[in-house]
Amino acid sequence: MSNAVAATIQPSAVEKRVADLLGRMTLAEKLGQMNQVSAEGPGAVEALRKAVCEGRIGSVINQVDPSFVNELQRIAVEDSRLGIPLLIGRDVIHGFRTVMPIPLGQAATWNPDVVHAGARVAALEAAAAGVNWTFAPMLDISRDPRWGRIAESLGEDPFLTSRLGTAMVAGFQGADLSVPGCIAACVKHFAGYGASESGRDYATTNIPENELRNVYLPPFRAALDAGAATVMASFSDLNGVPATANRFLMRDILREEWGFGGFVVSDWDSIRQLAVHGLTASDRDSAFEAVLAGVDMDMAGGVYAAQLSALIEDGRVPMEVIDAAVASILRVKFRLGLFDRSYAELQRYPSPSEDDKRRVAHEAARQGIVLLKNDRGLLPLSPEKTRSIAVIGPLADDPYEQLGTWIFDGDPALSVTGLQGIRDLVGNEIEVHHVRALETSRSRSTKSFDGAVQAARASDVVLLFLGEESILSGEAHSRADIGLPGAQAELVRRVHEADKPVVAIIMAGRPLVLTEVIDDLDAVLFAWHPGTMGGTALADLLFGVESPSGKLPVTFPRAVGQIPIYYNQKHGGKPPSPDTAILIDDIPVRAPQTSIGNTSCHLDAGYRPLFPFGHGLSYTTFGYSNLRLSSPQLRSGEALAVSVEITNTGRIAADEVAQLYVRDLVGNVTRPVRELKGFQRVRLAPGEKTTVTFRLDSGDLAFYGRDNTLMTEPGDFQLWVGGSSEAELRAAFRLVRAGTGGTSP
Ligand code: BGC
Repeated sequence: MSNAVAATIQPSAVEKRVADLLGRMTLAEKLGQMNQVSAEGPGAVEALRKAVCEGRIGSVINQVDPSFVNELQRIAVEDSRLGIPLLIGRDVIHGFRTVMPIPLGQAATWNPDVVHAGARVAALEAAAAGVNWTFAPMLDISRDPRWGRIAESLGEDPFLTSRLGTAMVAGFQGADLSVPGCIAACVKHFAGYGASESGRDYATTNIPENELRNVYLPPFRAALDAGAATVMASFSDLNGVPATANRFLMRDILREEWGFGGFVVSDWDSIRQLAVHGLTASDRDSAFEAVLAGVDMDMAGGVYAAQLSALIEDGRVPMEVIDAAVASILRVKFRLGLFDRSYAELQRYPSPSEDDKRRVAHEAARQGIVLLKNDRGLLPLSPEKTRSIAVIGPLADDPYEQLGTWIFDGDPALSVTGLQGIRDLVGNEIEVHHVRALETSRSRSTKSFDGAVQAARASDVVLLFLGEESILSGEAHSRADIGLPGAQAELVRRVHEADKPVVAIIMAGRPLVLTEVIDDLDAVLFAWHPGTMGGTALADLLFGVESPSGKLPVTFPRAVGQIPIYYNQKHGGKPPSPDTAILIDDIPVRAPQTSIGNTSCHLDAGYRPLFPFGHGLSYTTFGYSNLRLSSPQLRSGEALAVSVEITNTGRIAADEVAQLYVRDLVGNVTRPVRELKGFQRVRLAPGEKTTVTFRLDSGDLAFYGRDNTLMTEPGDFQLWVGGSSEAELRAAFRLVRAGTGGTSP
């Protein structure tokens, strides 16, 4: 494993210090390192101080008062026998005080630099509160928008998730974890959590090994290769063995195959839950299963603390297992430089100014908001020609709800709402009629709708701020019906009757099914939960200060029944096409049963999503032409240069995200219809043309075959470049073995 971060602090010196410390530890002190606690309830804080002093705790979760954290560190370092500092863990998922868009919204930027900058700001703010370990990034491939945790993910695609996930790790950890202001990342949830049945959180997952390796594991591998310090085991049950007890995942793959040298933490109380799953009959057996599977630290469960010593005494758990777990925890503490610098010393941190932090949050929101639809070029609005606007909806002016899930430390007082952003931009030039219309996104009362319709009638254009409140997505907040909640669809219908152009600005933690309302909306900006600077970014896009450039990191279904629907699906033996897809109204009455000529689609929804992966409109148009490959053949071990010309054919300067997809036509196992293999964000002035070149290595075409080993297989490939997963500009090439010169594979 290439581990740049560890390399900078001389691993051998670290190993010596780890071995020395380990040699001096009692069993109780070792088990202390494997114990993470959260101080909750009466007397907990006092108990925490005592336990830290006695060396019974290796990590504390959810303490962010820097003076208390420093006090705990002082007790650990000065009063405990061996002076081992604490890991202070916190969910810093998309910002700390300054809130970036939710991870799914950041993924829509398709911009690793933006993701990196957001994580850097978050790390600096969190480190100043004494946090030295975040439980992010979440790298679960998410193909089910019903699952509330899709909000925390980077979407449905392994390549995009790998690229952005490694950028986030680098943002949190910096180039050297021991530098002040760098915090350890924790990639989670290992593994397969996103495949929870029917999108219900914590539900079972069944993922064949081949799919696990080709789809769910690559982002973890990429982030660990980039130096991510720790891993969190998933709550979920994978093929009958909960991840927390899954030796195949944590021993065979993570340690043996990938050579991971950091540590694995359980999820919250997930060791005890092994008995709830029905895998074990007691806490003792749960501790046994988890520790042998390779979970090094027990998060907030107390099961290791209570059970491991008896398991060692009984000889069921060998001492080497404990030593290995403790060594990997200590290794991370050394990498963080905690033994030399245990305290949150604010004066030592490079502290970006408030303006800089807001600039990062602003740019992330601006690049991640996706223009789904823009009939007759309604957007951008002209600040000169627009005299009045109606700003309607429960999410137009709600500083808290635009922040999204997992913002324990986020400060709503910093938020710029949509209404505020518009007022800041247009001042008094445009008359603004603001009507909330619905108290919350879930409200069902339509009693304020008349006022909303009146405001619409009195305005040139309507801006409808719709979507989901923060609490409708995130952990344990899955939905079965992912349309607009409450009476929002009715609000759209009523406002549409006012016969004014309607722009919807939708804030949500997941893709929504918008089929019911889409025809009544002239333009739609999908803003996810855009964070602190959401309103400023939205105002920029609405009034054309900047063109939208976000692209969907996940497919938007037409109907819930299509789920799972994702772009990189398999072809199947009867793939659908516009000519073969049968819709319910096309079937003659009393048609005799036949499947001849029929293909894989739903009678009532067809086979296409409402908006495909990679989709996102702009205020300009881009032409793709002249797709060229450096050679029609790619030799194993070599690379192809794939270049394309992109021209801004409109009248506005804008960013475009060019996307490269390939298809392996014949495989040892069936291969996806398309797979993302490259993307680049470019900015073009009106009329400007540029050549974008992607490098495609033969290794990028590797996949896990029938025997679940990684292979590159000679054969024919197709390739597309364009502005979405439905790109049409196409070329072909052949992958040949090294040393083959001919045309046959
Ligand atoms: C979540 C994790 C999170 C942990 C600590 C769990 O419930 O699944 O993602 O990091 O809590 O808050």
